[in-house]
Amino acid sequence: MAKLSFSRLAITTAMLAVASSINLPVPILTRDFHLECDLNPKLSLGSGPGNTVFNWISFTGGMWNATWGNGTIEQGGHDYQYVLPALAAKLDTRYLLKTSDEKPAYIEIKTDGWRTGPPEVLEALNDPARADDVDPSTYKFRLYISMNTGDPRYNHVNTTMWVASGMRKGAKVIYDAYLVG
Ligand SMILES: *[C@@H]1O[C@H](CO)[C@@H](O)[C@H](O)[C@H]1NC(C)=O
Ligand SMILES: *[C@@H]1O[C@H](CO)[C@@H](O)[C@H](O)[C@H]1NC(C)=O
Ligand SMILES: *[C@@H]1O[C@H](CO)[C@@H](O)[C@H](O)[C@H]1NC(C)=O
Repeated sequence: MAKLSFSRLAITTAMLAVASSINLPVPILTRDFHLECDLNPKLSLGSGPGNTVFNWISFTGGMWNATWGNGTIEQGGHDYQYVLPALAAKLDTRYLLKTSDEKPAYIEIKTDGWRTGPPEVLEALNDPARADDVDPSTYKFRLYISMNTGDPRYNHVNTTMWVASGMRKGAKVIYDAYLVG
């Protein structure tokens, strides 16, 4: 019994030694696209899962411009927003990009993220009269992004990951997305 646990320990130590000798690549972020999404007014649906307030925000359109193409945002996407008591908001969106090609491609885009920051900044963001004057560097609006299309011209998006830094400006959400390389 003692022998068995000794050999288990030996294996674990050897494995750790191997793992620490491997230099794994550090992901590289490269600015890849800019997106501006037009929003309908927020609809509050009351309490959501856990101790949250559930908001539904639908999208009316918008534009995007990437290193690999550009185009518009189709009407009809939405953000499910869960706001915690301390006002941090969990964002969960799905919408459709349309490319500017003569025969457009459609690309489904999904983003997940958090908007966090000091309580007084988040309070100002929640107040339509003050929201526009909030400096985006005073809070953290971060997203991770994936896309999917069956259109062969844009298949590379299916296997790409992005992270983005965003802000709320009037009836728009604006973000810069960085390819994770
Ligand atoms: C977006 O378009 C502008 C020109 O309108 C260009 O300068 C910029 O580099 C483009 N951004 C990307 C990520 O392609
Ligand atoms: C969008 O792409 C088209 C061609 O694909 C190009 O002619 C146009 O300049 C691009 N627009 C922007 C804003 O980058
Ligand atoms: C992207 O996804 C579509 C549909 O799921 C599929 O037809 C296509 O082969 C995929 N392409 C890549 C490069 O994964």
